[in-house]
Amino acid sequence: MYSSRMTTIQKARRVRGCVRLPGDKSISHRAGLIAALAEGETDITGFATSEDCHSTLQCLRALGVRIEINGTHVRVHGAETEASVFRAPARKLDCGNSGSTMRMLAGILAWQSFTATMTGDASLSARPMTRIITPLAQMGARIEARDGRAPLIITGRALLRAISYELPVASAQVKSAVLLAGLGGDGRTEVIESIAPTRDHTERMLRLFGASIGVKRRADEDDKGDVISIDGGAKLYARPCCIPGDVSSAAFLIAAAVMLDDSELRIEAVGLNPTRTQFIRTLQMLGADITIENQREESGEPVGDIIARGRGRLPAAQGSRGIIRGAEIANLIDELPMLAVLATHVTGGLVVREAKELRVKETDRIRAVVENLRRMNADVEEYTDGFAIRCESGLRGAHLKSYADHRIAMAFSVAALTASGETRIDGAECVAVSFPNFYELLASIIEH
Ligand code: S3P
Repeated sequence: MYSSRMTTIQKARRVRGCVRLPGDKSISHRAGLIAALAEGETDITGFATSEDCHSTLQCLRALGVRIEINGTHVRVHGAETEASVFRAPARKLDCGNSGSTMRMLAGILAWQSFTATMTGDASLSARPMTRIITPLAQMGARIEARDGRAPLIITGRALLRAISYELPVASAQVKSAVLLAGLGGDGRTEVIESIAPTRDHTERMLRLFGASIGVKRRADEDDKGDVISIDGGAKLYARPCCIPGDVSSAAFLIAAAVMLDDSELRIEAVGLNPTRTQFIRTLQMLGADITIENQREESGEPVGDIIARGRGRLPAAQGSRGIIRGAEIANLIDELPMLAVLATHVTGGLVVREAKELRVKETDRIRAVVENLRRMNADVEEYTDGFAIRCESGLRGAHLKSYADHRIAMAFSVAALTASGETRIDGAECVAVSFPNFYELLASIIEH
């Protein structure tokens, strides 16, 4: 876990180099969870070093799954014959800071024939869980919570009712919880994305392991998402899994390269799933010099190298291009703190709306972004569902807080590289939640 030490960062001249990043957090969670349900041994290479993904592995171990961890190589011993390998845990399942662990594992616990309790740290215990409790209860699981929040006490039901569920929020975690529960359903479970499409790693990973997954584009609404279905009782089989670099971690380094003139950075073997790359598309649309090379597919996911170059401030966004909203939001949700900082580098700034989900992340990310950017001299307006940010005179070094949120700490570390003077960030060690070697890697590419 992280302490509350302070990190001091000076303005940088540029970044240069070629790097590889730790494995994708979202894909690693799914690989671990789905491998545990599959018959045979799954070898996962490039497993994320993030604390969050290790929370998932520790929960699985507490449920009786045998897992060998050797650096980023993880071997999961799945079911031998029956679909369920899990046994009642002797202790509470500690999900740490990880919403993905709690919400997706809940979908699996919903069809185990025992009771288990899931807990989390202070941040996770404050996050909304009704969004998974509602569909899983409709399927027949019993879930007790305190005011819709963790700890969650889940009593599964061996055969769940297959349901058709329309997502009330654009959330891949909720979609995944219902699909994973659908594996234990008595027929075909359907999830309807009615707000916006979200990351589809669960669908891809389940298909890789042999589940029967259907994906239908919604004929009525073009950018609202898909109808995804899964057949209950499907047998899953172990598959080797190779996890690509985390594109959400890459976003911080891409932003540093774009914001620091004369930079050139190559990031190799990054996951380029289109449901995750809206940040890159948005930056390109704003005029940033970002190119992709060596595109290929690995373990059912698109992968490639990203080259980002710094060419000074970005020109003013024309018309509605300066307003980020709608379906784009779900596909750059984790990158919005970084985009907020980048807005200070865009002539005329940027506006982000329809992003109220940011208020229920690891911290209230709208508040955190607004407060830190104001401390750095940016011109900021806060909305209930977003912010408007501009800064024509450049960021100033300041004393900032991480709000114990890894993405806030990293976004503002990059801001600090572009700001005059010195910036101090309290509690920056929380970067370990998704990117433990963030500061070492940054130091290796910075030139002062
Ligand atoms: C994630 C989905 C997103 C994202 C989170 C990881 C996932 O959360 O913010 O960091 O792996 O499915 P929501 O599903 O709550 O939007």
